[in-house]
Amino acid sequence: MSLRKRPYVLIMSEITVDGKLTLQRGVSSKILMKYMDHETEILLHATRAEYDAIMVGSRTIAIDNSYLTVRLVEGTQPLRVIPNSMADISLDANVLSRDAPTLIAVCAQAPSDRVTAIREKGADVVVAGETRVDLPLLLQILAERYGVRRLMVEGGPTLNYHMLHNGLVDAVRLIHLPFIVGGENTPSLVGGPHITSEEEMHRLRLTDHYLCGSNLVTEYTVLYGE
Ligand SMILES: NC(=O)c1ccc[n+]([C@@H]2O[C@H](COP(=O)([O-])OP(=O)(O)OC[C@H]3O[C@@H](n4cnc5c(N)ncnc54)[C@H](OP(=O)(O)O)[C@@H]3O)[C@@H](O)[C@H]2O)c1
Repeated sequence: MSLRKRPYVLIMSEITVDGKLTLQRGVSSKILMKYMDHETEILLHATRAEYDAIMVGSRTIAIDNSYLTVRLVEGTQPLRVIPNSMADISLDANVLSRDAPTLIAVCAQAPSDRVTAIREKGADVVVAGETRVDLPLLLQILAERYGVRRLMVEGGPTLNYHMLHNGLVDAVRLIHLPFIVGGENTPSLVGGPHITSEEEMHRLRLTDHYLCGSNLVTEYTVLYGE
């Protein structure tokens, strides 16, 4: 586990019965999200409002073009954080709208003209890492420079993998959608390479389960070294 100062981290995700996050690789999860109950959409927005920042992977931004704002409940807009090593995010991305503060985390090799263009859109840019965004360093920067105490991560699977792999996740909250989509290559909750032994499994403890409208919600604590 990382010993650096970092925020408390929750991964929150909508997930099918077979653990998938979308219909097929490269397709927006917004199609699945349409089927969430209204109460569950409110839970998602209320959770965003409880957190100081929301982080989403740059591929999710490219595919889903998410806004990541609090819209269905009253509340402060959390800082939107996107790890994007080479600063190649589309300048038309909704997350660069001025509706909420945005931080793009890049690496030292990100082209300076791209960094300038992002700053001109009103977003902050921080360098965290040499050749790729260093997630433990980014979380330390969020805690120390941005006062982020609670960070919500809304995927996708590659970001979820790197967060877990670096020991940076405290809790997981899943919204279970009553569908099976199948597909060997369809993204599931956690991407990355497969494990080679049971010792590498991430262990979780179920802490809560309830219905939100007709959607089952489960909550887990991630166990480290137990
Ligand atoms: N159902 C849901 O709740 C849900 C939620 C979100 C997304 N999704 C779906 O998930 C899919 C996209 O997921 P994805 O897995 O392709 O992409 P992703 O997780 O959204 O983005 C990949 C992220 O991983 C970062 N990354 C890659 N290697 C890294 C490393 N070694 N260290 C640190 N960061 C690293 C990349 O940053 P760089 O730019 O720096 O390379 C990028 O930010 C879409 O289909 C989307 O619809 C579903």
